[in-house]
Amino acid sequence: MTARTSQRSLSRPWALVLAFLGLLAVSVSAAEQSYYGNSMLDMMEFMRRGQAQLDLEALDNGQKLLTKYDFIVVGAGTAGCALAARLSENPRWKVLLLEAGGPESYAMDMPIAAHYLQLGEMNWKYRTEPSASYCLAMNNNRCNWPRGKVMGGSSVLNYMMYTRGSRRDYDRWAELGNPGWSYRDVLPYFRKYEASSIPDADPGPTRPGRQGPVKISYTEPRTRIADAFVRASQEAGMPRGDYNGETQLRVSYLQANVYNETRWSSNRAYLYPLKGKRTNLHVKKNALVTKVLIDPQTKTAYGIMVQTEGRVQKVLARREVVVSAGAINTPQLLMLSGVGPAKHLREVGIKPIADLAVGYNLQDHIAPAVSMLCNATSLQIREMFSVKALGDYFRGRGPLRTPGGVEAISFYALDDPKNPQGWADVELFVVGGGLQTNVALRLALGLRPEIYEDMFGDLERSNANGFLIFPMVLRAKSRGRIKLRSRRPQEHPLIYANYFSHPYDLNITVRGIEQAVRLLEEPAFRAIGARLLEKRLPGCSHLRWRSSDYWACHARHFTFTIYHYSGTAKMGPSSDPAAVVDARLRVHGIRNLRVADASIMPHLISGHPNGPVYLIAEKAADMIKQDHNYVL
Ligand SMILES: Cc1cc2nc3c(=O)[nH]c(=O)nc-3n(C[C@H](O)[C@H](O)[C@H](O)COP(=O)(O)OP(=O)(O)OC[C@H]3O[C@@H](n4cnc5c(N)ncnc54)[C@H](O)[C@@H]3O)c2cc1C
Ligand SMILES: *[C@@H]1O[C@H](CO)[C@@H](O)[C@H](O)[C@H]1NC(C)=O
Ligand SMILES: *[C@@H]1O[C@H](CO)[C@@H](O)[C@H](O)[C@H]1NC(C)=O
Ligand SMILES: *[C@@H]1O[C@H](CO)[C@@H](O)[C@H](O)[C@H]1NC(C)=O
Repeated sequence: MTARTSQRSLSRPWALVLAFLGLLAVSVSAAEQSYYGNSMLDMMEFMRRGQAQLDLEALDNGQKLLTKYDFIVVGAGTAGCALAARLSENPRWKVLLLEAGGPESYAMDMPIAAHYLQLGEMNWKYRTEPSASYCLAMNNNRCNWPRGKVMGGSSVLNYMMYTRGSRRDYDRWAELGNPGWSYRDVLPYFRKYEASSIPDADPGPTRPGRQGPVKISYTEPRTRIADAFVRASQEAGMPRGDYNGETQLRVSYLQANVYNETRWSSNRAYLYPLKGKRTNLHVKKNALVTKVLIDPQTKTAYGIMVQTEGRVQKVLARREVVVSAGAINTPQLLMLSGVGPAKHLREVGIKPIADLAVGYNLQDHIAPAVSMLCNATSLQIREMFSVKALGDYFRGRGPLRTPGGVEAISFYALDDPKNPQGWADVELFVVGGGLQTNVALRLALGLRPEIYEDMFGDLERSNANGFLIFPMVLRAKSRGRIKLRSRRPQEHPLIYANYFSHPYDLNITVRGIEQAVRLLEEPAFRAIGARLLEKRLPGCSHLRWRSSDYWACHARHFTFTIYHYSGTAKMGPSSDPAAVVDARLRVHGIRNLRVADASIMPHLISGHPNGPVYLIAEKAADMIKQDHNYVL
């Protein structure tokens, strides 16, 4: 233990830690006054400058781009890193992986820094278009939609919550005309990427993989709040167990993509181990792909245009281009390349090559968190960034290891409550701190300062202990859309979330909130004095406290995204007019072009999608190898 400790502290530059600490102290207090405070950005700038020596990127061979590769993978996110690593297993294929963002750094590894990362330049910083019916508590009625712009993509910004989703999700994909995607068919791919160290995982046919690249473990330490949540859920009749196992309807401490106190991003998992070993894989950072080149006559993709090192260049693909730019950038890039709704493309001056429903079917998960007070000590972000906490972190202990503060989760089938094998429609998860204890979370959400002050100002000043339960709606029926704002690739696309446009969604949201509130009646929560924060949102004060109408109003205000954007290049048979790719992820009507990322989900899975996106990438890699006669 001593040897391990000293080795670790030696391997981490202490000077940097102290500088980080100093900057952070300044940042947090100054940021109280301003939204996206400058000092917060200074901190990110500091992180960026520290990266020269801390660059975790696996394969920076520094060489110039070749004119031609066998495969070009666009985007080094959750899917892209996995795909590039798997395709380059064939030593005869030259693979190019292009990433718009920069390197991943050690600062990003610190699990609790998750909220802070969103404030920096490793986030694309998207925002939904203003709405009169959701995101009402946010600045300009717009929700922030963070996305990773860094090696590892959104797996570097995310909260590391690991879920497979329900078996029913995959069976539904298959039933929609996508052979090979049933739960039984995809199980081997889960096991291929998983490196689970969950000791009490279900042993049966659903057992997790133990040898793959993606680490999964429980996190420690835990607050008493998380313990109370797990026990209260059990007291209310929810069995405790592996929610990634035989059935999803369970409560558990969080299974997380964390290992040895560090975030386990896709870059870490798939590329870092290849350092110095994969000469046929070329990774290029700070490289924005602006177009996929498609021959309009033969409808064949043959390369890309990329903006890097101050100029735009053409790179050719001998075999295929695979787009893994995520559910916002993938539809944007496809449309910029002439693949999308013909009418919309013409509006912005792009000549359509394939008329497909790109950008439609946009899905997300929202969770209008409910604020509770309690007598148990919650995570206080200011105390966390103390010398002691940082010291503990680097010795492998302490609160900074908690992934963004999420500690425990449970799944409910509110529409099928008697069925232990039911299909979850609501997930609850608990964060052992309140909005008042985490300035970064409030900034990341883009909460209106006056609403924050009204609801949480006093609590913040009195250092009140509290926590949040997030009721996450798993199978919303509303669909949003991504559209181009212009034909300029540098410009953010338009995002219409359309939350609550289907009446089911508000109904199930309110029932999810009521389920969370009911848990407070259980003995385990009573024992820590857990209670609702009895404070009405200014915009909902005309409604009866705790009524369904009040909670509906609450949901329209605190429409917190859980960042699961997906579905915008839907997988389906050619008979489905909404489908963009087929079951082998080939773009309909275009040769040598595939999509492999969260965009292809016909329906968003009932859980957190980072794992399922690894699954998509692993399966895509196998299908590509098969289609090019590479023996697996
Ligand atoms: C704040 C946050 C918290 C989350 N928490 C969780 C969680 O706890 N658990 C969970 O399961 N999921 C979580 N998610 C969701 C999960 O991380 C994503 O679903 C997943 O990472 C999506 O993977 P992807 O490969 O589709 O896209 P991404 O990982 O976003 O990768 C896309 C990559 O492509 C790059 N790119 C885009 N356009 C271009 C271009 N034109 N040229 C070059 N490169 C480009 C991007 O910079 C990015 O690196 C969270 C997401 C966020 C943002
Ligand atoms: C854990 O991290 C430390 C510090 O980076 C490193 O020295 C050590 O080898 C890691 N341990 C394992 C088992 O990977
Ligand atoms: C949800 O819908 C059901 C069926 O229409 C109805 O009985 C119930 O009251 C609704 N619940 C809420 C919270 O709106
Ligand atoms: C919680 O604290 C309040 C205020 O100090 C006190 O009145 C209450 O009895 C405590 N409840 C429990 C369960 O400890």
